[in-house]
Amino acid sequence: MTGQPMVKAEGVHKSYGAAHILRGIDLEVRSGEVFCLVGPSGSGKSTFLRCINHLERIDGGRLSVDGQLVGYRQKGDKLYELKDSEVAAQRRDIGMVFQRFNLFPHMTALANVMEAPLQVKGESKAVARERAERLLDRVGLGDKMGNYPSQLSGGQQQRVAIARALAMEPKLMLFDEPTSALDPELVGDVLDVMRDLAESGMTMIVVTHEMGFAREVGDSLVFMDGGVVVESGHPREVLGNPQHDRTKAFLSKVL
Ligand SMILES: Nc1ncnc2c1ncn2[C@@H]1O[C@H](COP(=O)(O)OP(=O)(O)OP(=O)(O)O)[C@@H](O)[C@H]1O
Ligand SMILES: [Mg+2]
Repeated sequence: MTGQPMVKAEGVHKSYGAAHILRGIDLEVRSGEVFCLVGPSGSGKSTFLRCINHLERIDGGRLSVDGQLVGYRQKGDKLYELKDSEVAAQRRDIGMVFQRFNLFPHMTALANVMEAPLQVKGESKAVARERAERLLDRVGLGDKMGNYPSQLSGGQQQRVAIARALAMEPKLMLFDEPTSALDPELVGDVLDVMRDLAESGMTMIVVTHEMGFAREVGDSLVFMDGGVVVESGHPREVLGNPQHDRTKAFLSKVL
């Protein structure tokens, strides 16, 4: 893997009012890698993901995706905020899958996956449909395309959500605890879909408590606490031989 990183964070800060949440995040996600982000509740993992696709503005530092600053354009040594339409264009290249699936309840699985390409890209129905069918097949739901979300299990809904994100042909996928709301017996199917996606070369940032997945599929792992990166490295190294007390304490609870 060469070339510029897919995501580069340099001293990223974010506050909500007086609460200083991200306190100088430095990290790089290489193109094609599965980058796992772990840490205790409240450490800022979701906040950081939301900064990457500009659902939140950062207050300091620099954050870029595929060589482009998120939300800003640089001219000389000055930064200019992008217009809403330019921010939307940046966000289009980033797929996001949340803990809760947020499918449109009044639409079938197929229609959910077709919706963004139709509305956002102005794609033809035939093209959007063909891709949606292929993606639903890929996530193992070829026989459920006509089901509404209420007629699908949590794991099936989450796989529809992954297909829906992929329908925009993103260059980066963000997963925020995609399996933590699922019954244990449904977790495996979702992780299988993510493993398949990783093997296809997708760049993925995965916030997860599934340490088995991180160990097997992850290329890098970052342990975050209190809004900073405490420790990072290959998942097997960090999980097997943590260097910092905070990492050790966290892992003793989740492993
Ligand atoms: N919109 C907001 N307004 C104010 N505070 C917020 C907001 N979003 C998050 N926070 C605070 O920021 C801190 C970090 O939250 P965040 O959701 O990023 O943590 P997390 O690491 O994802 O935790 P979890 O593992 O529980 O999902 C928390 O203290 C939270 O209360
Ligand atoms: Mg979170």
